[in-house]
Amino acid sequence: MGNRLAGKRALVTGAAQGLGAAISRGFVREGAQVMLTDMNAAGAQATADALNDEFGARSAFACGHDVTSEEAWQAALAAAQDAMGGLSVLVNNAGIGGEGDIETCTLTEWRRTFAVNSDGVFLGCKYALAHMKDSQPGSIINLSSIAGLIASHAMPAYNASKAACWMLTKSVALYCARQGWDIRCNSIHPTFVDTPILDGFGKVSSAPIEVIKGKLARQIPLGRLGVPDEIANGAIYLASDESRFMTGAELKLDGGISAM
Ligand SMILES: NC(=O)c1ccc[n+]([C@@H]2O[C@H](COP(=O)([O-])OP(=O)(O)OC[C@H]3O[C@@H](n4cnc5c(N)ncnc54)[C@H](O)[C@@H]3O)[C@@H](O)[C@H]2O)c1
Repeated sequence: MGNRLAGKRALVTGAAQGLGAAISRGFVREGAQVMLTDMNAAGAQATADALNDEFGARSAFACGHDVTSEEAWQAALAAAQDAMGGLSVLVNNAGIGGEGDIETCTLTEWRRTFAVNSDGVFLGCKYALAHMKDSQPGSIINLSSIAGLIASHAMPAYNASKAACWMLTKSVALYCARQGWDIRCNSIHPTFVDTPILDGFGKVSSAPIEVIKGKLARQIPLGRLGVPDEIANGAIYLASDESRFMTGAELKLDGGISAM
């Protein structure tokens, strides 16, 4: 156990698996209480139960939550308030890959991708601030992607929705500063990290998923995919008071890919 996040109360979206689960575990390990939310309510509960087994009762809580729904955001924030007595950290992590290139991506798919990756982050920032104002210092962390900064020929909806998340982060950061609140807002931009989201690449290729992952890894200067704890470590820094002078910034955790 560490204490870098002692006294912090966090809500992490998309926390049933992948990066959200790793971030939640890192937060609890560093002394925070965490409300894990996910559209997969049973998965979020199972991940929270495992954290309570590992770190002690009332370390983690869970609730079902679709980040595209305004009502669901209000319910999730109320659940966090009830369970933990306040909210000082929000991690807008839930996200989806988005399918199709510019010719094959349907308008429905474009809107579905934006609903989760962009609208979901907007709603989270919009409604969490009312709670976070009472628990300053606060930190909002938005999971964008290196794909929000660097385009690919094959993922227009993902690129554009993650770029929207990146710029929204800066607007929220400046708004909070203008209000005189000690609430920061920063984005994280990972390259490929080994989580279930990469399975989406398997749907558009006939090659086995391990071959696809090897190909992705070869695009990264460090020569490998990221592991979830490497992203969780960045989120711990942004959630903690160690990053108290950092707002409106982007943390690139990309194995060097954006340096090329
Ligand atoms: N893994 C990577 O390579 C990578 C790279 C860059 C950015 N990211 C971003 O990091 C975040 C987490 O990705 P991951 O790799 O853990 O993905 P993942 O697919 O493993 O997990 C995503 C989680 O979000 C949940 N979710 C999806 N839609 C939701 C909704 N509408 N409401 C609530 N929950 C919802 C899913 O149920 C799932 O538990 C995403 O925003 C993703 O775009 C991931």
